[in-house]
Amino acid sequence: MNTKVIFDTDPGIDDAMAILFAQASSKIELLGITTVFGNATIENATRNALYLKQRFNMSATVCTGANTPLNIAAGEPTTFVHGQNGLGDIELPDTLPIAADARSAHDFIIETVRKYPHEITLIAVGRLTNLALALQKAPDIAALVKEVVVMGGAFGHNGHTGNVSPYAEANIIGDPHAADIVFTQPWPVTVVGLDVTQQSIMSNDYIKALQDQSATYGEFIYQISRFYSDFHKESAGLDGFYVHDSSAVAYLLAPELFKVKQGPIRVICEGPAIGMTLCKTAEKVFPVDDWHNKPKQQVCTDVDSKGLLDLYFKILTQSPKPL
Ligand code: RIB
Ligand code: CA
Repeated sequence: MNTKVIFDTDPGIDDAMAILFAQASSKIELLGITTVFGNATIENATRNALYLKQRFNMSATVCTGANTPLNIAAGEPTTFVHGQNGLGDIELPDTLPIAADARSAHDFIIETVRKYPHEITLIAVGRLTNLALALQKAPDIAALVKEVVVMGGAFGHNGHTGNVSPYAEANIIGDPHAADIVFTQPWPVTVVGLDVTQQSIMSNDYIKALQDQSATYGEFIYQISRFYSDFHKESAGLDGFYVHDSSAVAYLLAPELFKVKQGPIRVICEGPAIGMTLCKTAEKVFPVDDWHNKPKQQVCTDVDSKGLLDLYFKILTQSPKPL
C-alpha cells in the first residue's frame, strides 16, 4: 500500500534531491509539498518546488509556508550552501506556467490530515514552523497523523553534535521553538539527525553514475549538486556531500536501515546552546525534569550507509512511476 506523504521543505539542493526520491518511489503518494524559509527565501523555495512539479510532471499540490520563525528573528537564507536561487544557481525560467495553491502550508496540512485521518505521514526537512503553526491552530491533528519524520537536530551519536553551532543543526536552530512544539506533541516523531545524515556521503563518482543511469533525474541532480559539492569540499574536505534530507525519505521507505533509541526530546530555546536537541533515555524522574510527561519519540542513532545509497540509486534509476 502507498503511504500518503506531505513533504515540508526549504528547497534547497538536498531538499530537491529528497523530493525526487519521494516522487520516484512507488511506495509513496506525494500529496503535497509545503514550503518554508531556510535554505532559500520563501519566494525562491516555493518557486523551486513549483519548478520541480512542472519539470517532473508531479501531481503534488504546492503550498507556500512560513517566512519567519515563531519567536526569534529570521536568519539569512543559506545561499552559501545552496546558491542564490536555492538550486545551486542552475538556470531557472523567469516565470512558471503554474502557481502555488491559495492555501497556506499549515492550512493545507490541517485540511489534508483531517481528510485522511491516520493515513498521512509528514516528512519535514526544513525549519518546523509550518508543522508548529498547524498544531497551534488545530491541535486535533496530532492524533490524526500517522507518522512524522524530521530531518533535523544532532544528539551526539557517531560524534555529530551540530553544523551551525557546536551544538545545533540548521533546521532546529532556525526555529527552535517550533521544533520543541513538534517534538513534544502526542504524535509519533522519528528524528533523522546529523547523527546519521553525516554518516552517508554521496561521492562525486556516485552522482556521475546517477547522471549516466537515471534517465529522468540524473542530469538535473548532477547540475544542481555541483554547488553543494563545492560547499562540502571547502567546508568539510569531502569528495561529495552529506545525505541530509534524503535520509528522512529513506527512513520512511526502509526503516530497517536505521538503529533508533526512544525518549522524550526537548530543544534548547535560548542561550549559547540554542537549537540543541536532547533526548532523555533514562526512566528516572528528576526533581527538575522538563522531559517527564512528554511523549517518547524516536531518534536515529546509526545507519547502514551503503544500504541507503543503494536504495536511493535504485529508486532514482528505475522507470518513472505512472501518474
Ligand atoms: O542541516 C541540514 C539541513 O539544513 C538540511 O535539511 C538542509 O537542506 C538544510 O535545510
Ligand atoms: Ca532542507
